Amino acid sequence: MNDTGRKIILPRYADSPGQAIDSLLTLQEMDFPDVSELGSTDVVVAVKSTSVAYVDLIMMTGQYQHMADPPYTPGLEYSGEVVWAGSDVDNLKPGDRVMSDFMAVGPRSKGDYQHYGGWASYAVAPKHGLHPVPQQYDFDEACSLLVNYETPYFALVKRADLQPGESVLITGASGAAGMAAVQIAKLLGASVIVTGRSDAKLATVKAYGADHVINTSSIEGQDGVPRFRETVKACTGGNGVDVVYDSVGGEVGQEALRSLAFGGRYVIVGWASNVPDSGGRAAFAPDRLPTNIMQMKCLQVMGSPMAIYSQRYPELRAAQLQQVLAWAEEGKLRPYVSHRFPLADFREAVRAKFDGDVTGSCILNP
Ligand SMILES: NC(=O)c1ccc[n+]([C@@H]2O[C@H](COP(=O)([O-])OP(=O)(O)OC[C@H]3O[C@@H](n4cnc5c(N)ncnc54)[C@H](OP(=O)(O)O)[C@@H]3O)[C@@H](O)[C@H]2O)c1
Repeated sequence: MNDTGRKIILPRYADSPGQAIDSLLTLQEMDFPDVSELGSTDVVVAVKSTSVAYVDLIMMTGQYQHMADPPYTPGLEYSGEVVWAGSDVDNLKPGDRVMSDFMAVGPRSKGDYQHYGGWASYAVAPKHGLHPVPQQYDFDEACSLLVNYETPYFALVKRADLQPGESVLITGASGAAGMAAVQIAKLLGASVIVTGRSDAKLATVKAYGADHVINTSSIEGQDGVPRFRETVKACTGGNGVDVVYDSVGGEVGQEALRSLAFGGRYVIVGWASNVPDSGGRAAFAPDRLPTNIMQMKCLQVMGSPMAIYSQRYPELRAAQLQQVLAWAEEGKLRPYVSHRFPLADFREAVRAKFDGDVTGSCILNP
């Protein structure tokens, strides 16, 4: 097998996402992996689809808590076909449709398979780092499943303990994990209110299952995020929501905190509004929440670091993974994909994600 392919390389951390997109990321020729150097439990995958994730963006500027060492190939997750399997691979064979597990392979993993990101024609994974693609899924959906759904599963089920009949406010709901949060919250039987900044994207989120949508864009002539706590209360019989799933932070996060019912639960998922344009870990502007509101409203505020927790407690992650895979197999979870690009158009793809054009998942097809 000597088919050549291509891969994207990030040679060093970028000073800004724009620099990574415009000048640092490069497309290179890639040989088929030399199987004489691979282990007996290794598998070579011909990548069909790979996601352009938010975490890929912040990893490129060194702003994520877990970084791959450059030079590396980005691409947290991928799906494709097995094209070679080592002699001790008993669970997979050439032709099988597989998707990668971000904890075991690719830039979010630790160890030998970290540099095999998905933005490439071929990837190498250990046999335990791949899962069968759910039967009803295409490759684009398959590489949009695990990180996006395990994140809200962990946040809503394990942390917030969201119950049927409760209400949840999801910020940044048009995102890849945000759309997944909407689907999981509906599956759990909750009433779902979402925020976003684009009427068009919010219409898509509503069609996907949200019960109420709130546009948090600034009102003309006024600075900042408009108050929306009254709207949330109007949607919840005057009480406020039981749970907030916050992936935006900043002013949206603070307004979401004020939209909670007495005794409500606030789950911190991320702070997409608060990531600076220039890179480096030290560039982080800490997200802030007022303790007086937490105190007076008797709130529970909880962190929800899905990947960190999964790395720390692999046995608990196994149950989470099993549930997400089971729901996917039953067709209860269907990742939403708005943008698809050939690998050679990676700059347009990463730019679309960075500029917020995407709803749900953005895909590269090597
Ligand atoms: N806790 C965990 O384990 C975990 C795991 C994965 C990801 N995350 C975090 O979750 C967040 C979302 O991830 P994702 O994959 O869904 O990202 P994504 O696909 O890029 O979506 C983020 C969404 O946030 C909104 N947003 C972005 N910038 C904003 C701003 N300045 N102000 C207000 N809203 C803004 C956008 O919605 P609109 O354009 O519609 O406003 C966008 O659709 C990120 O912060 C990420 O780090 C956490």
